[in-house]
Amino acid sequence: MKQKLKSILRGTHLYKKFGRYVHDARNRFFDLKHGVSTANTVGLHELDIENRNVIFAIRYECSDPKLFHEIFDSLKIKHEDFAFVDFGSGKGRALLFASEYPFKKVVGVEFSPQLHRIAQDNIRKYKSASQKCKKVESICMDVINYDIQDEPAVLFLYNPFKEEILSPLLAKIENSIEVHPREILIVYVNPELEHIFEKSKMLIKIESGTWHSIYKNV
Ligand SMILES: C[S@@+](CC[C@H](N)C(=O)[O-])C[C@H]1O[C@@H](n2cnc3c(N)ncnc32)[C@H](O)[C@@H]1O
Repeated sequence: MKQKLKSILRGTHLYKKFGRYVHDARNRFFDLKHGVSTANTVGLHELDIENRNVIFAIRYECSDPKLFHEIFDSLKIKHEDFAFVDFGSGKGRALLFASEYPFKKVVGVEFSPQLHRIAQDNIRKYKSASQKCKKVESICMDVINYDIQDEPAVLFLYNPFKEEILSPLLAKIENSIEVHPREILIVYVNPELEHIFEKSKMLIKIESGTWHSIYKNV
């Protein structure tokens, strides 16, 4: 009965509106607490991206702290052995979250110079007594041109681009695994293009929730 009521409520306009307020409040609180600026959504038309792949990009929206930590707290890996790479890292919000875990290094790839500069600023300003990884950097480039390093890694995707970019990026990741076999995990938040992963012979889904899926190489 309680479950049924919950699922009816979830579909209502009021519930969604309330959920949005809670999400926004959480985002603003994170920025205030850590002295950074990551919360505001930025449309692609407001950005300075001189790259033809901009037509396949999704606008900047930051990761949610609660969801990120729910996913990463349950990840059973030895963080020290893994790099964290965020493809489409925007203002660096997910990089700051990831730096709370003892990853070997944390890297963000973002093709908007404007967002990249904000990310660099946020990395510098981030205040946290519990930060475990200090090797955090934002790189300004198209993910398609990023050289995937030969090391175990957790690759993070918060619904950053369309199929035209995700497909070749996945092919590049698979090729890199083939050449240098190692453990690769892909955390895909707001996974709108799961059908692309389903075509893969190398990646299997090991977890899925309402807002995310996790893939791993076999
Ligand atoms: C939904 S935001 C994700 C932000 C960040 N990952 C987070 O979790 O807070 C998507 C980001 O991907 C970037 N993006 C889209 N296509 C890209 C590409 N081809 N190369 C690099 N960045 C890209 C956009 O500019 C935008 O900042």
